[in-house]
Amino acid sequence: MAIILGIESSCDDTSAAIIRDGILLSNVTASQAVHEQYGGVVPELASRAHQQNIIPVVDAAIKKAGITNEHIDAVAFTRGPGLLGSLLVGTSFAKGFALAQHIPLIDVNHLQAHVMAHFVRTNDDMRPLPEFPFLCLLVSGGNSQIVMVKDYNKMEIVGQTIDDAAGEAFDKCAKVMGLPYPGGPVINKLGNLGNADRFQFHKPNIADYDYSFSGLKTSFLYFLRDEMKENPNFIEENKNDLCASLQKTVVDILMQKLHKAVKDHHVKRIAVAGGVSANSALRDAFVAYGQKYHCDVFIPPFAYTTDNAAMVAMVGYYKFLANDFCEPNLPPYARVTI
Ligand code: KG4
Repeated sequence: MAIILGIESSCDDTSAAIIRDGILLSNVTASQAVHEQYGGVVPELASRAHQQNIIPVVDAAIKKAGITNEHIDAVAFTRGPGLLGSLLVGTSFAKGFALAQHIPLIDVNHLQAHVMAHFVRTNDDMRPLPEFPFLCLLVSGGNSQIVMVKDYNKMEIVGQTIDDAAGEAFDKCAKVMGLPYPGGPVINKLGNLGNADRFQFHKPNIADYDYSFSGLKTSFLYFLRDEMKENPNFIEENKNDLCASLQKTVVDILMQKLHKAVKDHHVKRIAVAGGVSANSALRDAFVAYGQKYHCDVFIPPFAYTTDNAAMVAMVGYYKFLANDFCEPNLPPYARVTI
């Protein structure tokens, strides 16, 4: 039997989870509303909030799981990528906890954890889990990648963004329209009320399986600037159609490259992960793709799309089984690949 404590603090969510033998017992997350007024995450405020939240969050996760500190066999923590000041809080806490309990430490790659969200399940969750190999579209605020998942601990990047991430494009375009942060969910909500074919925006022409979203962002900005010269109320009068068209463009870009990767790698299973996988247009596109090309499609429950410690504990569980532990002096990394 193995009980793993997972800790996530890479950006603006402080989260702790307990997994016993691969089954989730608890997952407690404290989000940080403090950033809303700034239109984006302020790193210094994020790390201070993590410091305030980490002990109550871990305490709540352990209590909710119905265990005590002594039952925990290992601590898995997000080592990177993320905001360094935020990562330092989770990393330092995990090291202190492991030292005090005389248990091993497991470092976790945040991107691998997003993919492993597909394997997080509670006792009463009977949804089918992906078999290996499968291609996972990993789309969050900081990353957009296509990952070939060969095993729990064996993943390779097939393609990735050469500039902005898909979530970043949503957030920045939302900011230009004066929408609140994070913009992705707001664009999703308004976009579902609008006409997605009303406006056409820039689609990149990038080689292989890589993505680019900076051109779309710039074309969106210039388009609004020109329209606002003619009609200062243009954004207000067309908000739903703007959101719908932008959302469709991002989803088209994501699905086009995924399709190329599926064809070239001859896979029959696709999955989506990361914060942007909460987007309903993207989820619909995945379902439609599965029907059209006879692929098995895996979409994670909403609770595990954005940052959470359950996915971190899941990576930790499989690394624990493989005796893959880390030294207590391992520093966090702001940038790493899978
Ligand atoms: O994975 P995540 O929680 O954090 C990172 O590790 O980046 O992803 C956050 C990103 C943000 O850019 C947010 O706008 C986006 O996910 N997001 C969405 C939706 N929900 C969250 N984007 C589009 N539609 C959504 N429903």
